[in-house]
Amino acid sequence: MGLQHLAVIMDGNGRWAKKHHLPRLAGHRAGAESLDRTMHWCKEAGISYLTVYAFSTENWKRSKGEVAGLMKLLSHFIKAKEKELIKNGIAFRVIGRREDLSPKLQKEIAALEEKTKGGDFTLVVALSYGGRDEIVRAAAKLAAKGLLGSNRVGLGSDRVDEEAFASCLDTAGIPDPDLIIRTSGELRLSNFLLWQAAYAEFYFTDVLWPDFDKAEFDKAIASFSKRERRMGGRL
Ligand code: FPP
Repeated sequence: MGLQHLAVIMDGNGRWAKKHHLPRLAGHRAGAESLDRTMHWCKEAGISYLTVYAFSTENWKRSKGEVAGLMKLLSHFIKAKEKELIKNGIAFRVIGRREDLSPKLQKEIAALEEKTKGGDFTLVVALSYGGRDEIVRAAAKLAAKGLLGSNRVGLGSDRVDEEAFASCLDTAGIPDPDLIIRTSGELRLSNFLLWQAAYAEFYFTDVLWPDFDKAEFDKAIASFSKRERRMGGRL
């Protein structure tokens, strides 16, 4: 089975910075460069979607300086990458509570999404994202459409099924991730793509995100290819 969608929890920027006696933001900057490289490896490998966890709903609790620095980095990434994304047919898309972001950043995101629409490779950036939050918002959307009444629950033909529910998630139209990589030795999902991860394979590595290189990328892909994916069924 092919690898269509790779998702990455880009962990370890802070530890990388500490190791190099640099401020935490230097770690995030190095992390953004690592993301840039990974995106190109994905394209070359024929992967169609790369989703990265750039900022969680929990990350707002970090110091004001770190939050501001990360937001600035995102804004910079959007401006600096526009031409390259368009030239390479890369669509940019954000999932998460985008209304939590500054109006300026929201505008920049919407503009880049519009300009890169229709690319044959999609970079999905999770921003102010939490899996539970996304699921609750999807339920609220269905309720607002009047689709969550008691008449819709159960086995009737007009019941809300998984497909209808998934179409209200931020990831509507994006296939589920086949493989989720988490760097820097943590073995948790940390509220990332909870619904979408139902059948995903996982690859964990001790390598810190800024040090994630082509050899490690190849190792992750090779380990995915070797696994037998039964999706709960029989082969
Ligand atoms: C986790 O490392 C990483 C983050 C919270 C931020 C990830 C952001 C980037 C890689 C760059 C920005 C992204 C884009 C799209 C430009 P950590 O800080 O938790 O590391 P630690 O656990 O070692 O402290």
